[in-house]
Amino acid sequence: MSAAQTKMATRSCLSAFLLLLVALEFNIVMGVTLPQCRPIVATDTDLIQFALNLEFLEAEFFLFGALGRGLDDFAPSLAQGGPPPVGGRIADLDPLIRRIIQEFGYQEIGHIRAITQSVGGIPRPQLNLSDESFAAIMNRAMNTTLNPPFNPYANSINYLLASYVIPYVGLVGYVGTIPDLTRRTSRSLVASLLGVEAGQDAVIRGLLYERANETVRPYGMTVADFTNRISELRNRLGMCGVKDEGLIVPVQLGAENRTTSNILSADANSLSYSRTPPEILRIIYGTGSERSPGGFFPNGGSGKIAMRLLR
Ligand SMILES: *[C@@H]1O[C@H](CO)[C@@H](O)[C@H](O)[C@H]1NC(C)=O
Ligand SMILES: *[C@@H]1O[C@H](CO)[C@@H](O)[C@H](O)[C@H]1NC(C)=O
Ligand SMILES: *[C@@H]1O[C@H](CO)[C@@H](O)[C@H](O)[C@H]1NC(C)=O
Ligand SMILES: *[C@@H]1O[C@H](CO)[C@@H](O)[C@H](O)[C@H]1NC(C)=O
Repeated sequence: MSAAQTKMATRSCLSAFLLLLVALEFNIVMGVTLPQCRPIVATDTDLIQFALNLEFLEAEFFLFGALGRGLDDFAPSLAQGGPPPVGGRIADLDPLIRRIIQEFGYQEIGHIRAITQSVGGIPRPQLNLSDESFAAIMNRAMNTTLNPPFNPYANSINYLLASYVIPYVGLVGYVGTIPDLTRRTSRSLVASLLGVEAGQDAVIRGLLYERANETVRPYGMTVADFTNRISELRNRLGMCGVKDEGLIVPVQLGAENRTTSNILSADANSLSYSRTPPEILRIIYGTGSERSPGGFFPNGGSGKIAMRLLR
């Protein structure tokens, strides 16, 4: 090859590479064309029942954290014969946080009842709410082995950080569901569930924001550091670009590029991000694969969508 030919080959190779990069960047930003980010085909009933997986997780975590008892004590029939969760327990919360979390727990019972009455229930999946389950996620988020291991139930800050992990995923899941629903009654149910879910997320994030600069003892990192890292982990596991942002962000990610506070996580027009069921599963399984259960769902999610994706 002549020097000129080599140069040309290099240049076309380089431009192909740049084109690829631009295409990738575009796909990731738009979150539409990457195969793993496409909406799935499912009925209204399956999509709404899918959300029960997160509602069960939230109900059990909040009820146990605030009261030391779960769904089997308050509304056992809603579990539809699913196994009791493992590892949930009462958290050492200050009175204000306990009141709030107790309310959230009761609200989740209502959500499970509303869905069950509307489209029918599914068996509660096996849930793992153990210290180790949360410690494993925090280790991955912080990219280190926290010592002592992170204990979600030890105090209000730890519990709020552990809570930061959950309702936001439910919220973006509901937002992602709405466009695919065909029935008016389905859309109205999901919009109403979403309203409360978004409220819970905002309260948790607001409470954490007040403490953003406090150190999470004994780790020497702040609450804001933890939230940013948890959000980054969820973006990595979800594999569809940035749809999750911590409490303090670079100004380019803040509302109207004018602020670094990020009490509500949203896109450039301050609209909620959305996620598909496979994205949600990759995150809550903690494995980055909707086919490999783990994390809070050691045996995988319940209902047609989660079980179909498992195979
Ligand atoms: C819960 O998760 C922890 C940490 O991954 C694990 O050690 C434990 O065996 C799990 N328990 C169940 C019942 O899956
Ligand atoms: C995690 O830490 C290792 C080294 O300790 C580093 O090589 C790696 O890039 C880090 N990963 C992330 C996602 O920050
Ligand atoms: C955290 O600290 C930064 C820098 O010192 C300050 O600008 C910010 O207002 C503080 N935020 C909160 C929520 O206390
Ligand atoms: C904020 O900055 C981003 C790029 O970082 C840009 O896409 C967006 O349009 C900007 N928003 C406003 C309101 O200027």
